[in-house]
Amino acid sequence: MTRKKILVTGGAGFIGGNFVQYMVNKYPQFDIYNLDLLTYAGDLTKHRDIESKGNYFFVKGDIADRDIIMSLFEKEKFDYVAHFAAESHVDRSINEPEIFVRTNVLGTQVLLDAAKKIGVTKFVHVSTDEVYGELDFDPTTFFTEESPLQPNSPYSASKASSDFMVRSYHETFGLPVNITRCSNNYGPFHFPEKLIPLTISRVLNDEKVPVYGVGKNVRDWLHVLDHCAAIDLVLHEGVNGEVYNVGGHNERTNLDVVKTIISTLGKSEELIEFVTDRLGHDKRYAIDPTKLERLGWKPTYTFETGIAQTIQWYLDNKWWWEKIISGDYPNYFKKQYSLL
Ligand code: NAD
Ligand code: DAU
Repeated sequence: MTRKKILVTGGAGFIGGNFVQYMVNKYPQFDIYNLDLLTYAGDLTKHRDIESKGNYFFVKGDIADRDIIMSLFEKEKFDYVAHFAAESHVDRSINEPEIFVRTNVLGTQVLLDAAKKIGVTKFVHVSTDEVYGELDFDPTTFFTEESPLQPNSPYSASKASSDFMVRSYHETFGLPVNITRCSNNYGPFHFPEKLIPLTISRVLNDEKVPVYGVGKNVRDWLHVLDHCAAIDLVLHEGVNGEVYNVGGHNERTNLDVVKTIISTLGKSEELIEFVTDRLGHDKRYAIDPTKLERLGWKPTYTFETGIAQTIQWYLDNKWWWEKIISGDYPNYFKKQYSLL
């Protein structure tokens, strides 16, 4: 019997990288291909423990490059596609929106064409709760799969556009797709431009932590490995054409998150610096995951166990993040936080 091939796009990034490792270890009987352009957010050193496994393969390529993608699909005849590759940072999308349209919208459409051409068993498009826009602070309101798409940032608008493109390939061509919409992830190998790894790395170095506005915005946090398990389930059990929200009911204000990290590391809250708010800053995200739970998923981490594991991981793995914050990153940081 031929071995099933699973293509993971963006498998050198944060969530895609965790997913690649999860799949390589869980399914020795499947071949896992990681397709990634290795932008500033992609790095292969995170995969040093799986590189020598016989079921892991890396391909460098741009998902928006039609010729490369078409010939790769024709050559490898993938059975499954888990599509993570994207420009993912909201602040960068405010400063430079164009690349978000190219990668997130055009890149997704090119992959859909390739998947249609060879006839994949399943195409899972990894999207975000940000496509639903924002909720107010009423804690009884949640995003469901029926909530209207009202993206507010160039990033979320590009993700919503890609969601519509995926939907259209199901409705028009019968491509077997699913869309997942997850809340904020955190965990190992999270790039230190995002709130949690930025806070951990800066607090460890006794540097100021920039909190936008007054820190009252709410995010719904999920450990990345719980997200990986959700994608695995949807890849194998998702009903074609369906959307699944992913979230674990872990709503926290940004200030609470930052204070939790500071107190776990035994540092002073004087490290907090309130800075100019993000433009169009969404107030609150909160996911109703009932539909995915009915499919058989439930998270294994609470926010308390997950953040403790994550902080310990950053303490144990300075080799990974210290090289990032000493590369191009300081230039980005200076530009982004000119007030600091
Ligand atoms: P990330 O920025 O850490 O990684 C993105 C990866 O995509 C990088 O390895 C990068 O090199 C690669 N990439 C970028 N452009 C590419 C291109 N043109 N061709 C091939 N590869 C390219 O992102 P992440 O946080 O891991 O997010 C992964 C996916 O999950 C994204 O689609 C994002 O929208 C979605 N998502 C993220 C979160 C979150 O909290 N981070 C939550 C829900 C959904
Ligand atoms: O909800 C899912 C989304 O979560 C994903 O689709 C995105 O790819 C991912 O980046 C994330 O988006 P956010 O904008 O919510 O994440 P970020 O870590 O950038 O910010 C989290 C919150 O913290 C947000 O309210 C802004 C705030 N923040 C962020 C940074 C980087 C600060 O207060 N200070 C900061 O320096």
